Amino acid sequence: MLVLGIDTSCDDTSLALLRDDKTLLSNVVSSQVDLHRVFGGVVPEIASRKHIELIDGLYKETLKEGGISGSSVDGIGVTAGPGLIGSVLVGLCFAKGLALSLGKPLIAVNHIEAHAMSIFLEREVEFPFIALVVSGGHTIMLLIRGFGKYQVLGSTRDDAAGEAFDKIAKYLGIGYPGGKVIENLSAKGQRDYVAFPRPMIDEKNYDFSFSGLKTSMINYIKKHDITDDNLNDIMASFQEAAFDVLASKTIRAARDLEISRIVVGGGVASNGRLRQIFVERCREDDIEALFSSPEFCTDNGAMVARLAYQYYLEGTTSSLNAAGFSRMKIH
Ligand code: KG4
Ligand code: ZN
Repeated sequence: MLVLGIDTSCDDTSLALLRDDKTLLSNVVSSQVDLHRVFGGVVPEIASRKHIELIDGLYKETLKEGGISGSSVDGIGVTAGPGLIGSVLVGLCFAKGLALSLGKPLIAVNHIEAHAMSIFLEREVEFPFIALVVSGGHTIMLLIRGFGKYQVLGSTRDDAAGEAFDKIAKYLGIGYPGGKVIENLSAKGQRDYVAFPRPMIDEKNYDFSFSGLKTSMINYIKKHDITDDNLNDIMASFQEAAFDVLASKTIRAARDLEISRIVVGGGVASNGRLRQIFVERCREDDIEALFSSPEFCTDNGAMVARLAYQYYLEGTTSSLNAAGFSRMKIH
């Protein structure tokens, strides 16, 4: 069983070929970071135009790398949302064209769900578990009882975690995307240099808020001289505050619901310090903390192929009328 996975939800054009549940034949990700860097963030119009230029060439590259022809593909998985709508539609329309010309089923999937379940590309995880998806567009906590069996426990009320990183990096003009830049600076910094707030940490819900933290960080920067020396410390303190809230609330949810496994996915989950905090804190509570490899945390076609494979096995395919969505609920 061979599934092609396509993701064009944001600024990466990603395609992958997956044999059965775990054998990845190819995984091609073309990043547009260089195009958007001068703007300090993704420009939706530029992103969708670039996807449409790149997608056919990358499809051919994916097949070549996988050593197969298009006619051997059994199903075409594609992100139908949530994402930048112009970008989503490029992948979706390309997938529909392929499904039609190859006579193979289309399997339209939810990008957040693909992040939450990407771990199954590399290992099995026993249900139930709590999944925290932390990306540039979303921060959402889910109770997962099986594929397709999700309950939203909480989400961000304003900025996504990655969005706060990106906006701070943009404000300081230190690079884009902000997450990796801030991780690198933080590695050399003192984590308790500034006592940034931990928004909503003690509230009896599983929601998050990162906009206030971002603002206090920016206010701090406005009021203090930023030097090469203290920049690392300020970044490390900000990063620590954000990850403290993410870990504390997710672990509390696991304790409250008596769940012994937490899976963290999405671009921010590629951060080494985030992984360390989750592992250490989870250990204290006898909870297992699990992560995909970093390349499957940031946007990729493989996670889409993995989820589509599951739906295909269960007989759930999509019609060629499938719509694209900028916002999309997870069920
Ligand atoms: O999952 P993803 O690739 O795309 C979305 O679905 O949004 O996540 C991208 C986000 C960006 O905000 C980026 O700054 C953040 O993930 N990110 C990181 C790291 N690598 C990417 N954040 C913190 N540390 C990182 N190493
Ligand atoms: Zn994503």
